[in-house]
Amino acid sequence: MSKAIIFNASPRPKGNCAAIASRMEEELAEKGFDVRRVDFRTATIGYCKGCDACKRHDEPWCVQKDDMGALLPELDAADCFVMLTPIYWGDITAQAKTFVDRLYAFFAPAKENMTVATKFGKKVAVVTTSGSMPEEAVAEKTQAVINSLGIAGYTEGRSLSLNQLNVPGAVNDSEEYLAEVDELVGWLSE
Ligand SMILES: Cc1cc2nc3c(=O)[nH]c(=O)nc-3n(C[C@H](O)[C@H](O)[C@H](O)COP(=O)(O)O)c2cc1C
Repeated sequence: MSKAIIFNASPRPKGNCAAIASRMEEELAEKGFDVRRVDFRTATIGYCKGCDACKRHDEPWCVQKDDMGALLPELDAADCFVMLTPIYWGDITAQAKTFVDRLYAFFAPAKENMTVATKFGKKVAVVTTSGSMPEEAVAEKTQAVINSLGIAGYTEGRSLSLNQLNVPGAVNDSEEYLAEVDELVGWLSE
């Protein structure tokens, strides 16, 4: 069974990212995925310490015994993942950035087991919601994340940026946006 993990980096329990996460969770499950969802607001994920201890291990591993340390091997084994984040002050949230920083544990080009190679061909989707952030400005941020994930081994990346979503849960009122979310799920499950 294919496995997907959905990460929600919004602190709002009933926000737009949460609504999209629920929809994707349901649709991926319908398509036969074993789906795991992690809402960062209920998780403990510390900052990367930059200690390089992960570089001395042959498997995905982190010195920190928090939720991210435990998630790394699971994420390594998953077939795809989604990261949902609101735009805060023109960028992804601090929670989303902290998560991406911790994926440094996957950056080990010289190691056979822990490795970028285990992610080749696996898909990753980055979804942002915002109030009025211009499309091009968001694209610059999401592309930077996708580039980093590419270096960590996820060579197949796509992003989706949805704006005019200041009201929590407003995404559910837009047939157009929901169709774009569904299209992304379709791509993930191809
Ligand atoms: C602290 C904070 C900063 C924000 N900064 C921006 C911003 O720079 N540009 C923008 O278009 N929207 C901004 N917003 C609006 C959110 O991106 C928008 O409401 C988003 O849909 C929230 O997603 P959520 O409901 O999943 O939490 C900000 C909201 C907050 C709370």
